[in-house]
Amino acid sequence: MLSVAERLEIEAEAAPAETKRSVASDALKIVQRHRGWVCDEALKDVAALLGLSPAELDSVATFYNGIYRRPVGRHVILLCDSVSCWIMGYNPLRERLESRLGIGLGQTTADGRFTLLPTACLGLCEQAPALMIDDNVHGDLTPEKLDQVLENYA
Ligand code: FES
Repeated sequence: MLSVAERLEIEAEAAPAETKRSVASDALKIVQRHRGWVCDEALKDVAALLGLSPAELDSVATFYNGIYRRPVGRHVILLCDSVSCWIMGYNPLRERLESRLGIGLGQTTADGRFTLLPTACLGLCEQAPALMIDDNVHGDLTPEKLDQVLENYA
């Protein structure tokens, strides 16, 4: 069941919108901000609130890379694997992340600190290789710089 706060925020988002469908991704982000991810039950409740089927809303969740349908760590690392980053050092970064965190792509560290996910281009190609942690983008990375960046996320 959605909390009162979640429901109020979603309703406030939907009220001025031309169609409730147009706020679907924002509604999911509201739930995610409260819970860290979007479980099936919350997705069904949001769908009912917006007059959508759960399948319709799930397709929105699937389309947006930043909506998590499974539990994630306190910090989510989105590692860009598109062409500029690939050329400029994707593999050494991925290897450093995997060895330092002890996880592979799609996994969460045992302490729940980080989840590591692949992503398409972050729009930071001129600073490739790049990744995003939570809402922060980091570019011009080397494995050594990456170590420093990770220290900022407890
Ligand atoms: S290819 Fe990685 S940010 Fe564009």
